[in-house]
Amino acid sequence: MEKLMIDGGKRLSGEITLHGAKNSVLPILSASVLVNGVSVIHNCPDLSDVRVTVNILRYLGARVKREGSTLTVDTTGICRSNILEEYMSELRSSIIFLGALAARTGNACLYLPGGCDIGLRPIDLHLKGLKSLGYFVYTQGSNVCASGEDIKGTKIVLPFPSVGATENIILASVFAKGTTTVINAAKEPEITDLINFLNKAGAKIKVDSTSVITVKGVKSLHSTEHTVISDRILATTLMSATASCRGDVLIDNAVINDIMPTLPVFEEMGCEITCNKSSIRIKADNRPHCVRFIETMAFPGFPTDCQAPVMASLCVADGMSAIKETVFENRFKHTEQLNLFGADITVKDRIAMINGVEKLYPACVKCTDLRGGAAVVIAALTADGVSYISDIKHIDRGYERIENQLASLGANVMRIKDEKK
Ligand code: EPZ
Repeated sequence: MEKLMIDGGKRLSGEITLHGAKNSVLPILSASVLVNGVSVIHNCPDLSDVRVTVNILRYLGARVKREGSTLTVDTTGICRSNILEEYMSELRSSIIFLGALAARTGNACLYLPGGCDIGLRPIDLHLKGLKSLGYFVYTQGSNVCASGEDIKGTKIVLPFPSVGATENIILASVFAKGTTTVINAAKEPEITDLINFLNKAGAKIKVDSTSVITVKGVKSLHSTEHTVISDRILATTLMSATASCRGDVLIDNAVINDIMPTLPVFEEMGCEITCNKSSIRIKADNRPHCVRFIETMAFPGFPTDCQAPVMASLCVADGMSAIKETVFENRFKHTEQLNLFGADITVKDRIAMINGVEKLYPACVKCTDLRGGAAVVIAALTADGVSYISDIKHIDRGYERIENQLASLGANVMRIKDEKK
């Protein structure tokens, strides 16, 4: 096992290009199952979640080749329609293979993973959506299955704009007879990216401004090529690190609209933000100001995935900040680790109160989950001295070689062997 050694207390400066969005490439790879041909997907980051998804595609019978950040996926040879426990327990978001596999093969069975680090992660909305389309959804031991040949378009109203449920319903309805309308659908940029990929392959999907997605069923999808959007959560993570450590960082290949919901928070912290066509510059010369209240919401609200990184920056702010986590029920596990650096965070129900301190002290901590891991990295970059971070497999799920990215901005970060693990 490995851990990070971070000698913090240094300003960040320089220029960095964002890699592709993890939460876009994963659903697009699942969607490639619907294509009876070759999907050439550019700007795919080399992340452990992507590697697991590629292994699933290969298990299903697809041929996948990586050349740099391009994945070429040939799904003509798909010969299986089940996904084993070893894959599903590694990557529970692979549940969106259910809709794609059921639509392609008429029957799909996936091992049903349990909850994860940040919550129970139920899939009731996914299954309800597939049932509304006419799939017979049932459990077989620890597997959840969906089968159906005569799938008809229908109207589906989501009580909550679930990202995964929206994606699963879209994939399950691409070949349905007639039109499917999804009301109160998720509007995250990654959904739009998935829809763009599918439409390039011949699907007929429209999104209107009132969160309604319309999927007009087609007979088949053909080979296509697509470039994945850049990772807005990586952008916000780098911005949080700059706000906390101070510095002057230019982030290239950014989609400003995707990052827009977080800009008021960085401005309230006192950062100087300059947006150009596809880059964003953040300058932070002083201790961040506290931010009175942040509430995580579905897009275009403040993203739940940015909650932990931004919280790390607020640990050294000049006053009391509050963050309310409304999306996941257990997404404050990183606060305990942040307090080991000398932060002063208290959590009651779904609100974290961050009483800013002058400085953080080096510590030995662990990653509790993907974004919680990013938070402790930011705290270690901010603390003057050497910190150690273990369980970095969580970070590797969503950030490509984070030590190289940070080192390119002047941070002193090394990946070393964790002899204790
Ligand atoms: C996606 O998860 C992302 N993952 C998450 O990113 C992100 O935090 C989340 O959307 C919200 O933006 C991927 O795209 C791979 P949801 P997902 O369905 O689809 C409840 C990261 O750090 N819910 O919008 O699982 C659920 O319990 C990850 O990159 C149901 O109740 O999110 C949660 O409380 C973490 N029933 C809320 O909705 C359901 O059937 C949001 O879940 C589905 C969801």
